[in-house]
Amino acid sequence: MKAVSVAVDAFFNEVIDEHESRKGKNDEEDFVGMLFQLQQSGRLDFELSRDNLKGILMCEDTLDHSGSCSFGVLGRKLMRLMSAFCVGDFYPSLSWVDSFTRLIPEMKATFEAVDAFFDHIIAERDSRYGKNDESHVQDFLGILLQLQQSGSLDFELNRDTLKAILMDMIIGGSDTTSTTLEWAFAELLRNPNIMKKVQEEVRRVVGINSGIVDENCVSEMNYLKCVIKETLRLHSPVPLLIARETASIVQLRGYDIPPQTRVFINAWAIHRDPKLWDNPEKFIPERFEISQVDFSGQDFRFIPFGTGRRACPAISFGLASTEYVLANLLYWFNWKIHQNIDIDMNEMSGLTVTKKVPLHLEPELFSTPMP
Ligand code: HEM
Repeated sequence: MKAVSVAVDAFFNEVIDEHESRKGKNDEEDFVGMLFQLQQSGRLDFELSRDNLKGILMCEDTLDHSGSCSFGVLGRKLMRLMSAFCVGDFYPSLSWVDSFTRLIPEMKATFEAVDAFFDHIIAERDSRYGKNDESHVQDFLGILLQLQQSGSLDFELNRDTLKAILMDMIIGGSDTTSTTLEWAFAELLRNPNIMKKVQEEVRRVVGINSGIVDENCVSEMNYLKCVIKETLRLHSPVPLLIARETASIVQLRGYDIPPQTRVFINAWAIHRDPKLWDNPEKFIPERFEISQVDFSGQDFRFIPFGTGRRACPAISFGLASTEYVLANLLYWFNWKIHQNIDIDMNEMSGLTVTKKVPLHLEPELFSTPMP
């Protein structure tokens, strides 16, 4: 495996060297060329170093220590397993069936793999920077490790708690935003007029500002925000929210619901209810220009981030990162469907609902004169 990793690394070095040797010539013809052109234009607000480039090309950070397994794949597997039908949850005396169907062994193996992944990145961080080097305290893990070492918290941040926080953040934060982006693109490609309108807005706002897509100009992109809200309505990444349990007897429409009953909230059905939404099956971002429906959990018609005490703790961050990435992708590239095949909108169920057939698009670099 190590040999494969080294070979892959050498391959990407060669690709980059080859591109560097012909800088300026046919730069736009492929993905690396586009990245080089962006780098040379000086219009990126981060450094596109060789390591960054390799990371983008092979998603280096998501390979495990053996170089064999993508964390994205592991994360999706975890999401699927967390919402898998578990016979023992409903008929405890039949819980042996879950071992028989291999659900429990698969869950154990997956959690062990995730655990090993986190152990590896923590150990790697420790070995790369040493215990007392503060130069790495620039990201989430660095801050957690510093808090752990300083002992300034009023609870013990041991290795297990640290891994649990990392898991919540990485699993809660990666699939949800990436799925929202994928669905947004699928809808935009199926609705060229909406794509045109949102791209015009993004390019107008960025053009008026410095020519760089930053948080300030994203805050002026009202239609882009409507596109994201409409995506979250039609394709809520967590359509059944996180399962709840009744704490005491509840009476509902004449039924007595006993304590400890598992409750699922079907946000998917609420978001497509014709009594609440006009043309609920249609992708119409304009509906949010007219009505300012709250989505922080106060208005039960629209709950993509859940509601109550278990609501998503990262609404602002989740929205900001989705808006920022979508604005960048729409600004820098024009998009077309690979081989003009119809987009398959089937869903694949799990805790997050992703596209069953991944979206395959072709980007074309959009060039504007420097402001
Ligand atoms: C478009 C982006 C996102 C959407 C649509 C979303 C949606 C949700 C939903 C529906 C829940 C369950 C709420 C409930 O059952 O009431 C949830 C929980 C959670 N989300 Fe998000 N989320 C997003 C982004 C993020 C990000 C970026 C992070 C972290 C960096 C994150 C971390 C979490 C965590 C830790 C929980 C569990 C909270 C708990 O159980 O108490 N989410 N999210």
